[in-house]
Amino acid sequence: MRRPFLAGNWKMNTDRRSASDLVAAVRASADRRSDVDVAVFPPFVYLDEMARALAGSRVRLGAQNMCDADSGAHTGEISAAMLKDVGCELVVLGHSERRHVYGETDALVNAKVKAALAAGLEVILCAGETQEEREGGQTEAVVRRHLIEGLAGVSRKDAECVTIAYEPVWAIGTGLTATPEQAGQVHTYLRGVLAGLYDQELADMTRIQYGGSVKPDNVKELMSVEGIDGALVGGAALKGDSFTAIIEFDN
Ligand code: PGA
Repeated sequence: MRRPFLAGNWKMNTDRRSASDLVAAVRASADRRSDVDVAVFPPFVYLDEMARALAGSRVRLGAQNMCDADSGAHTGEISAAMLKDVGCELVVLGHSERRHVYGETDALVNAKVKAALAAGLEVILCAGETQEEREGGQTEAVVRRHLIEGLAGVSRKDAECVTIAYEPVWAIGTGLTATPEQAGQVHTYLRGVLAGLYDQELADMTRIQYGGSVKPDNVKELMSVEGIDGALVGGAALKGDSFTAIIEFDN
């Protein structure tokens, strides 16, 4: 039985004050809803403060990105060890904005995945096709590549610390959501890829989140789809009332 996993990716939003207010609302919501796992991914500069605000709570803290190197001359970068040091347990890697806006390749995503797991961070590995790729019938090939190349060289044991997020690029921040059928098909496909890469047991235990314009009014329908185990939420995770409505979705 996979526990639902609702995660809020704040991207480059909030300030000190709104981050504190938001995290307090999320903390209270997670206390009311003990049958789901909850995580937030604030901007780097607020992580330390958010870790203190979340001490003793059920809400887990993660970062939105990290460097693949351990330390040294990497101006502007943040290492896995630094994230651990300030209380992060997770990191999102391979988000489509990192891939498409900042040019991250599958090889770089893979190096980051391995560095994160080696440092003891759990990973949310994102996979998803663009509109053009979907229209060209490439959806399965693209998400398969994101998974296979993202997880290259990751042991089965380490793979247990990976959550997958299926995020069709055309649905991110656009208000367009994959239909439950579209999302369900890709989730089933991805679980099959995981079974091929590792084994059925690993595939059955791995949570696959859906991401892309998840909102309070569509979360219930998406979560009712077989194989959708949670959500990676952007825009609707920025307001306490909408993200708490997602955490406390009616199942
Ligand atoms: P969105 O973003 O919910 O604003 O579409 C999702 C994401 O990028 O993780």
